Amino acid sequence: MNKNTGHYHITTFGCQMNKADSERMAGILDNMGFISSEDPNKANIILYNTCTIRDNAEQKVYSYLGRQAKRKHKQPDLTLIVAGCVAQQEGEALLRRVPELDLVMGPQHANRLQDLLEQVFNGNQVVATEPIHIVEDITKPRRDSKITAWVNIIYGCNEHCTYCVVPRVRGVEQSRRPEAIYAEMEELGRQGYQEITLLGQNIDAYGRDLPGVTKEGRNKYTFTDLLYYVHDVPGVERIRFATSHPRYFTERLIRACSELPKVCEHFHIPFQSGDNQLLKAMARGYTHEKYRRIIAQIREMMPDASISADAIVGFPGETEAQFENTLKLVEDIGFDQLNTAAYSPRPGTPAALWENQLSEEVKADRLQRLNHLVGVKAGERSQRYMGRIEEILVEDTNPKNPTQVMGRTRGNRLTFFEGDINELKGKLVKVKITEVRPFSLTGEVKEFVLV
Ligand code: SAH
Ligand code: SF4
Ligand code: F3S
Repeated sequence: MNKNTGHYHITTFGCQMNKADSERMAGILDNMGFISSEDPNKANIILYNTCTIRDNAEQKVYSYLGRQAKRKHKQPDLTLIVAGCVAQQEGEALLRRVPELDLVMGPQHANRLQDLLEQVFNGNQVVATEPIHIVEDITKPRRDSKITAWVNIIYGCNEHCTYCVVPRVRGVEQSRRPEAIYAEMEELGRQGYQEITLLGQNIDAYGRDLPGVTKEGRNKYTFTDLLYYVHDVPGVERIRFATSHPRYFTERLIRACSELPKVCEHFHIPFQSGDNQLLKAMARGYTHEKYRRIIAQIREMMPDASISADAIVGFPGETEAQFENTLKLVEDIGFDQLNTAAYSPRPGTPAALWENQLSEEVKADRLQRLNHLVGVKAGERSQRYMGRIEEILVEDTNPKNPTQVMGRTRGNRLTFFEGDINELKGKLVKVKITEVRPFSLTGEVKEFVLV
């Protein structure tokens, strides 16, 4: 059979980086002549783009993979690919664990999928995990949405957070050239995309590895410079970005966000813990006082901005009192949204080897207590929307109620309202908020905004 015919299926685990990588890999497969399939059992190329941030994310991959490996015994022309962070972490070991695999490829190799697949079709079992310079995008991603899009601006991470596998699996920081980012955004604007999220594991690190001097004489091109540079891309109405790191976050960035009309009023700044000793053990490079100062500055300059974050409970050695410092930070700041996780020891990270690990019971109990508080505070934050007119970018139908459409406020709250998706998809609509819940809102249409 001609290998370049047939269907491919991609399942993506993990973060927005992986989603963006999957869209590029799908673009490559489309370009090679394969057809996308939602159903893995109808596909003869199966690609799992994997995540290893916590153990449960990794285990999920093995169970999916087990099923397809079995299928391969009956259907030898099946091509099985593991991409992403588990691939990078396990490398050759993955072939020993699942010998049916054809291709194991780390995240830095996503843009090389065609080349790697051709090696597979020539009869090889291929492992591509060596660090490389990420080749600039020449492929057209197959984007899941026609309204919102991701744009990577910096790959990798140079931090050494003691719990985290990301630097190990994503490699060192590599900033894309501002011109390449601008060109990708321009193309998205031409295609009708209204909202773009700029992505980096540590977006504040953008530009550190680029040569060049700015007009103001600073010797580095920063993320803030990039925002000023890209904010006028025609057609794009909203710009978001993630993830900010408190260690490098600047007042200049807040000012840029307050000055630039397309940049949405939302900051995602993980704090991980509210306790200084734990922050030190995590090697995060800031104190809870510094974190509070950042939030205070944001609220002074942009009083309505939404703030979201990530936090870990049950880090090795975390005492009840230290955990309560995290609760206190959440109580004091009142996040619009908080992604919480129980600490999970990861291979190759320093904290995994420490002896002061906590029991799963303690972690689960703290996670539950924190999540409860997060819901209460998010509910309080949602109150401010009641009765207000909010601008919603309509993305889709409400999957739970087909007479409603859904989209997000500029502050990133999911909002539902009655409407016809065929008429409203991709429109910016002014909606009066009539009902609030901790993580979503309901409203009614007030007016359509031109675009
Ligand atoms: N670059 C981002 C986060 C990337 S990972 C940052 O610096 O904040 C996403 C989130 O997963 C982290 O913010 C952290 O809260 C969580 N996480 C990372 N490693 C973890 C681990 N070993 N156990 C539990 N949660 C973890
Ligand atoms: Fe992981 Fe820390 Fe880098 Fe975030 S900044 S990706 S938590 S090492
Ligand atoms: Fe997971 Fe890799 Fe993202 S480990 S969170 S998919 S960077």
